[in-house]
Amino acid sequence: MPFSVRKKALRNAYPFGARTNAPYRAWLKAQRAYLNRHDPTPAGRLLALLEPPPKGKESRFVRRANDFYPTTDPAAVAALSPFLPSRTRFFESCAGAGDLVRQISDLGHICLDTFDISPGCPVVRQYDALQWAGSDDSETVVITNPPYTWAILRQLIQHFLLHVAATWLLLEADFAHNLRSAPFMRHCCMIVSVGRLKWEQGTRHKSSKNYTWFLFTRSDDALPTFYPRG
Ligand SMILES: C[S@@+](CC[C@H](N)C(=O)[O-])C[C@H]1O[C@@H](n2cnc3c(N)ncnc32)[C@H](O)[C@@H]1O
Repeated sequence: MPFSVRKKALRNAYPFGARTNAPYRAWLKAQRAYLNRHDPTPAGRLLALLEPPPKGKESRFVRRANDFYPTTDPAAVAALSPFLPSRTRFFESCAGAGDLVRQISDLGHICLDTFDISPGCPVVRQYDALQWAGSDDSETVVITNPPYTWAILRQLIQHFLLHVAATWLLLEADFAHNLRSAPFMRHCCMIVSVGRLKWEQGTRHKSSKNYTWFLFTRSDDALPTFYPRG
């Protein structure tokens, strides 16, 4: 059967009524996987190996391995800066190419260690944050823009809650509203608005999503205070 006919027949056979919400998304995913198996062009087959375009930091861009989206936009650190006590001692546990750690250190804060599962520069050592032993010092914090893939992010937050007194994470603002975040929001005491960020250098385009810094601590009865921009 010609590929175009197969594609049209499949599109017309959508079984769930309105093309919205979870059933439609699941259908699109299944459809894409099926069509890529039958796509006669080499690119079509290769695309089958990729996940669907992500909705987060980089919806317009090709997804990068390990969610490597460095924080090069100074707006992220500018928003966090007023909330960091002078000479804050911090760990950057998913440091990428060191962009975030550089900007925070430039403000006089003290980086105690900087690592990443797949470092992007020699200053960042290779280490899996999920293996990190953590810190007993109640004055030290983790500050990072972590990978956003939920399966990893969830484990990282759990790990940080167990192994460090406080953790600042740069996340999509929507994190606060997602049901799956609820167990973590009980540990969140501050939400600092950042707004839209540029994830690609040399582009005029900002993200379609808003971002915020979330401060997580071990306490599980937190009522977060929201700090708007400006
Ligand atoms: C969104 S990037 C941010 C990089 C850096 N924090 C910054 O703000 O510029 C997320 C980083 O998390 C790293 N990463 C993913 N899983 C990790 C893990 N298990 N342990 C340590 N780093 C990890 C990726 O390699 C990537 O560099």
